[in-house]
Amino acid sequence: MSKIPWFPYTYNLSFDFNYLPNPMKKSFQINYRILHEKNSIDDMIESFDQPLKEYEDDLPDFPVMDIGIGLGSGTVYFASKGKRVYAIDNEPILLKWLEDKVNTYDKKKLDIEFIKQSYPAITLPESKFSCILISNLLHFCENGYDGIRNDLKTITQYLVSDGFILVRVHATDHVANYEGQDYFKYFFTEEEIKGLLVEAEFELMYLSKYYKKGFKAAVKHKKEWLTRYLVELKKVDPTLPENQEWINQHSIQEGEKCYVAIFRKK
Ligand SMILES: C[S@@+](CC[C@H](N)C(=O)[O-])C[C@H]1O[C@@H](n2cnc3c(N)ncnc32)[C@H](O)[C@@H]1O
Repeated sequence: MSKIPWFPYTYNLSFDFNYLPNPMKKSFQINYRILHEKNSIDDMIESFDQPLKEYEDDLPDFPVMDIGIGLGSGTVYFASKGKRVYAIDNEPILLKWLEDKVNTYDKKKLDIEFIKQSYPAITLPESKFSCILISNLLHFCENGYDGIRNDLKTITQYLVSDGFILVRVHATDHVANYEGQDYFKYFFTEEEIKGLLVEAEFELMYLSKYYKKGFKAAVKHKKEWLTRYLVELKKVDPTLPENQEWINQHSIQEGEKCYVAIFRKK
């Protein structure tokens, strides 16, 4: 199985590396550029590891919405299964890189609409969706738990009956939840995850908390990212001993604790 180092474990980096606010900082673009250079569409399809795969045969026959695509593995995975996918991100360069890649993929027609919009203000030309992926986005929402629930209410109006929504977020005991950091805006308890959507309208199908420390390739990826950052943006020699030390220090991996939940609309 191909191993895309999804999480470059950036928590110990200075905030110079964040992809928020929009537009994404150049430093973070380098991360995604490397991932795009190294991974083909087939790698991305193969590495899509969300538990939603177990329910994919249950999805009604309507398009899928992927909000906050990142590299785009969720988007291409469902497109490879024959779904029309709306790939939504507020970062144009990520949409463009994925679109360029999809346009040169000749094994199969991937039916993808690339949409530059910013969650939660999303308006789409279709109103019926079988599935919404919102993975690693909600912990950036700034208006608290009630605001997050309200935003979800707006977006889940697009789901048809028996449609699914997958949510992945950071848990309260996530490594980045420390005094003084304000990059991630919200960390979730299990009870909050269970209560994200109105119980009368949604059934919780899957809930899991995981602790994940990345594989060696994640450290390798991070070293490459930091090296390119020093060369391209800081214009310094990455082989100098002090820069090598900086790269090694910042490549240390930290595990993270997250929740994944899947709800089905009644
Ligand atoms: C941490 S990445 C998650 C990528 C992918 N969903 C995953 O789980 O690996 C967050 C993505 O959301 C995008 N993003 C951030 N804020 C957004 C917003 N308000 N609306 C749409 N996309 C947003 C970022 O550009 C980035 O692609």
